[in-house]
Amino acid sequence: MERKIPEHIGIIMDGNGRWAKQKGLSRSEGHKAGANVFRRICEYAGEIGVKYITFYAFSTENWRRPPDEVNALMNLFRAYLDEAEERQEENLQKGMRIHFIGHREGVPTDIIERFETTERDSRAADKIDVNIAINYGGRLEIVDAVKKIAQKVKDGEINPEDITEQDISDNIYTAGQADPDLIIRPSGEYRLSNFLIWQSAYSEFWFSDILWPDFTEADLDRAIDDFNNRNRRFGGV
Ligand code: FPP
Repeated sequence: MERKIPEHIGIIMDGNGRWAKQKGLSRSEGHKAGANVFRRICEYAGEIGVKYITFYAFSTENWRRPPDEVNALMNLFRAYLDEAEERQEENLQKGMRIHFIGHREGVPTDIIERFETTERDSRAADKIDVNIAINYGGRLEIVDAVKKIAQKVKDGEINPEDITEQDISDNIYTAGQADPDLIIRPSGEYRLSNFLIWQSAYSEFWFSDILWPDFTEADLDRAIDDFNNRNRRFGGV
């Protein structure tokens, strides 16, 4: 039987800190290694025909980490977005359309500006949509959607009794995208940690002990193979 490629994959990039500790490196070095794996997996996903991929890069709770670590992560985001701009042509050829998903307020303005530039300059790409979740929390995403819908009610555009699930889907950060078919969490943790909680209602989950900086294309293939052995019924029989 032909292997089915999930249309949308979500990835929780976990285990950078432990990987660094094992190697006697700083946590920031672990994130740097993780960022390189992010680049590789992004490309590979596009090559094998994944249409949407969402990476959990920084949660609304991650601001509680030591300032040095938060700064190092922000600098990795800056470096990636600068590189995406420098390699605009190459990325367009690879068909990578980049999106920021998260709560914009609270993210350094220069990073938001870089995102806006990269989102604009990659808009014509049409092979794979790459969502980078920064200052992202699934509950906050739903609150943000509810606020938008409440405003429409206030403006008389919609009646409360007419609000549907589709209205929520249309007002969350991933509006217009397919829900994730498969969510991957390495590093031996078995939690969703507030990631894509609305979108993952029918997702399959794949967990592994691999630490994110050690994650390879072969691991993505393994996750996809296991996904192919699942029987998704969406509440049917
Ligand atoms: C969780 O591992 C990982 C994060 C909080 C950061 C993830 C971000 C990256 C890999 C950088 C991505 C870069 C770009 C350009 C999108 P952890 O630090 O909690 O690991 P631990 O549980 O082992 O301590």
